[in-house]
Amino acid sequence: MKGFIFDLDGVITDTAKYHYEAWRNLGEKLGITVDEKFNEQLKGISRMDSLDRILALGNKENEYSLYEKKQLAAEKNAYYLNLLQGLGPDDLLSGVKEFLMAAQERNIPCAIASASKNAPLILEKLDVNDYFEAIVDPASLAKGKPHPEIFIRAAQLIGIEATEAIGFEDAQAGVDGIKACGMFAVGIEVDEPLIGVDISVNSFCDLDIDKLLEIQRNRHTA
Ligand code: BG6
Ligand code: MG
Repeated sequence: MKGFIFDLDGVITDTAKYHYEAWRNLGEKLGITVDEKFNEQLKGISRMDSLDRILALGNKENEYSLYEKKQLAAEKNAYYLNLLQGLGPDDLLSGVKEFLMAAQERNIPCAIASASKNAPLILEKLDVNDYFEAIVDPASLAKGKPHPEIFIRAAQLIGIEATEAIGFEDAQAGVDGIKACGMFAVGIEVDEPLIGVDISVNSFCDLDIDKLLEIQRNRHTA
């Protein structure tokens, strides 16, 4: 048995840049500079945890009540959703559609392990829902990335062991979660290098699905 487990933002589509823009915008209103380097720490992290990190960056973690923080998070999400308005099938990252089709031809189940509550909406806009047997509901999890829970759950949902799956990630928190449950990690590296990945590529165009399966199989039996 085999299976593929995908992060969404920055792996399937380049929504990571919209998250960054939306956080930067909120940061500006709060007087906190969210730059590209700091944004790396927000990748893979839930909406509320990201907000907490931004407030801590500006030493403002004790200035807002939970109610106010929920309002700020909702404000960021509204801005983000506005940026997503034009999102469509053309916004799939290079090679993703071909890779999903190749997985489907080989009857290899695919799942989404994303911290994003917007994942179902985004997959619908990209018109790739049919390629995924399961989408983990991040609201059902006790712990976010880098904890491996989301990847273990995704593997369960497609009926395989975590060690049988190959996980795809663009964020260090995600790679750490994948490796913490013994899963094979493919890093989609665009900006910062990812530590601990088994293979790293710039895009799905650089991946040959059969070679990848062979490498993972050899690693598993070595
Ligand atoms: C992750 C992104 O996939 O989802 C984070 O890498 C984002 O940047 C998180 O904050 C939560 O997303 P959302 O869509 O629920 O706000
Ligand atoms: Mg990501």
